[in-house]
Amino acid sequence: MIFDKSKALFERACKIIPGGVNSPVRFFQPYPFFVDSGNGSKIYTKEGNTLIDYCMGYGAVFLGHSNQELALEVKNQIDKGSLFCIPTEKEVELAELCNEIIPSAEMVRITNTGAEATMHAIRLARAYTKKAKIIKFDGGYHGAFDYVLNKAGSGASELEHTDGILNESARKTITIPYNDIEALESVIKKDQESDNDIACVIIEPVLANSGLVLPEKDYLNQVRKTTKQNNIVLIFDEVVTGFRLALGGASEFFGITSDITTFAKALGNGYPISLIAGKKEIMSQLAPSGKVYQASTFAGNPVSVTASLKTLEILRENKDIIYPQVGKTCDRLVSGIKDIAHDKEIELTINSIGSMFQVFFTKRSVNRYHDVKTSNVTKFSELFKGLLDSGVFIPPSQFETCFISANHNEEDIEKTIESYENALTKVDKI
Ligand SMILES: Cc1ncc(COP(=O)(O)O)c(C=O)c1O
Repeated sequence: MIFDKSKALFERACKIIPGGVNSPVRFFQPYPFFVDSGNGSKIYTKEGNTLIDYCMGYGAVFLGHSNQELALEVKNQIDKGSLFCIPTEKEVELAELCNEIIPSAEMVRITNTGAEATMHAIRLARAYTKKAKIIKFDGGYHGAFDYVLNKAGSGASELEHTDGILNESARKTITIPYNDIEALESVIKKDQESDNDIACVIIEPVLANSGLVLPEKDYLNQVRKTTKQNNIVLIFDEVVTGFRLALGGASEFFGITSDITTFAKALGNGYPISLIAGKKEIMSQLAPSGKVYQASTFAGNPVSVTASLKTLEILRENKDIIYPQVGKTCDRLVSGIKDIAHDKEIELTINSIGSMFQVFFTKRSVNRYHDVKTSNVTKFSELFKGLLDSGVFIPPSQFETCFISANHNEEDIEKTIESYENALTKVDKI
C-alpha cells in the first residue's frame, strides 16, 4: 500500500505540530497515514486506500463511522446553534436516559473528555472522604493528568517517567497489580496502620490500555467488597467499557455497582462528550449545590449532547441485536486468528471480551500488566505493519485494544482473517 500523500502531510505537520500529531498514540514508524473519511467499518486514507478499521477512534465509534441517523440529528442541531452556555432540555433528557440505563447513576454531570471525567471523579472522592491518597492499577490509564500517570498504560507506558509532573501529587498515588486482591488488601491495611488516608480506588473494570486484560473470576466483586468495608470510594472508569460491553457497561456485564462511574468514548460515538455518574450524596457535592468546583465552557454543548442522546437511543432500541452481534463477530475473528496460530505453531495469546480483543506474542496467559510486558513488541509491530499492508488497521501499539463496531460484517471478518494469516506468516520468520 502506498502512503505518499501521508508522508508529505506528515513532514508538513512536523514543522508546526510537536511530533506531527495531536495525541502521541497516533504516531507510528515511519509515519502515520492521514485519513480522509470513514464509513461504517472502513476508513479511507488521503491516497484513497481503503482500510478495515479496528481502532474505531480507540473504541469511541461503536456504531460505525459517519452513522447517518446520528449525522442527521447533529446537522439539525447545528442549524439551531452549537453553544449557548445556558441549560438545554436535551441535557436533562440525556441525564435521565443515563439514569435509566445505568442503575448506579443516581446523578449525572456532563463533561467533555475522559480525563476531565476521571479527574473530577477523583476530586469528588477526596472531598467526600476528606482523604487524599488514591489507588490505581499498574497499566491502568485514566487520562493525561498528574496523579494518574504513575505506571499508566496506553501511550504513557512507553515513557518511564513524564516530565513536568508535581512529585507532591504523584506521591499521593499508590499503584498495585490488577487481578491481585491480596495486594489491594495489604495496601489498605498498611495505610490504616499509618495515616488512614485512602480516598478512592480507580479501576478500569477491564484493563483496555495494556492490550486487553480481563478480570479474573470474582476479582471485581472482591474489590467492591474490600472498598465498601473500608469506606473507600470505588470509581469504575468505564470510558472504554461504558455502553460497549453492555448497554449498562461493565457494571451491568459483571453485576457490580460502583460509587462513581466515568463514561466517554461510546457515549458520543465520536463526538466529544463524557460524564461522571454516581451516588446522589457524592455527586451533589459538585458546585453550585456543593463545594467541589468543576466547570467547563463546552460541557453539555448541544451538538455533543444531541449525538449522545441519539447514540444511546439507538443502542437502547437495538440492544438485543447489537450486543450479541458484535460479540459473535469478535468471537469469529478471534477463533480465526487462533486457528491460524495453531496451524502455524505460532506462540501467541489472545484476550477478548464482547467487542474487544488483542493478540500478545507470549505463551503465558496475560492477566496482569507484567504479563503484557513479556510480550514480544517487535513481533507486534511487524503484525501491525503486515496488517496495514493488506488493508487492515489496528491500533499501532501492543498497549492498546482492538475494537469491533456494529458495522463490521462477515465479509470484513473473512478479509481480516486472511490479512492476519499473511501478517502472522511474516511475523513467524522474525
Ligand atoms: C479508560 C480510560 N479512561 C480515561 C481516558 C481518557 O480519556 P480522554 O482521552 O478522552 O481524555 C481513556 C482514554 O483512552 C481511557 O481509555
